[in-house]
Amino acid sequence: MKILAFAASNSSVSINRQLVEYAASLADGCEIETLDIHDYEMPLYRHDREEESGIPQLAHDFLAKIGEADALIISFAEHNGAYTAAFKNLFDWCSRVGREVWQDKPMLLLATSPGGRGGKGVLEFAVGAAPRFGGKLIGHLSVPSFGSSFDTEAGKLTDVDLDAELRQLTAQLVEAA
Ligand SMILES: Cc1cc2nc3c(=O)[nH]c(=O)nc-3n(C[C@H](O)[C@H](O)[C@H](O)COP(=O)(O)O)c2cc1C
Repeated sequence: MKILAFAASNSSVSINRQLVEYAASLADGCEIETLDIHDYEMPLYRHDREEESGIPQLAHDFLAKIGEADALIISFAEHNGAYTAAFKNLFDWCSRVGREVWQDKPMLLLATSPGGRGGKGVLEFAVGAAPRFGGKLIGHLSVPSFGSSFDTEAGKLTDVDLDAELRQLTAQLVEAA
């Protein structure tokens, strides 16, 4: 079984990437593929651009990665209460191929931020939106105060309760896939 894991952030030092990679490491016995959405950067979506040049190949490539996976784990960075522009642009291009961006895959959605809200705003939006784009939502978890909840050297959650919840959600994702 293959899990595709990525952060909805294009930062080379993304805390959401650290979190999503830890979550994926908990999926016992699964093949894990991670990707960096920065490798799928495309020009800003513009109706006229689509009319003139069509949908960039990178959008098709990203959708193919989702298609090859049995389950998805995504951790969302929050920028001003919403998706990062990098993820939104990627998602917008993909949605022009078809509305079923998540292709009926079981999904675990995460978010973290340095602050106390832990990206709750963007996570709530992503959770609400997922089923409308063909996502089979298995669960979600926000990790507040990343600096004190996560040990970056060890690459794991230090908050015992959050860690237990994440382990349970990851097990549910594996079961559903
Ligand atoms: C433009 C911008 C807007 C941000 N807005 C929010 C926000 O609304 N809520 C929040 O918790 N953090 C916000 N942050 C801080 C991010 O949570 C922080 O940069 C975090 O590291 C982003 O996740 P990443 O490292 O995975 O990219 C913002 C950061 C930037 C650069």
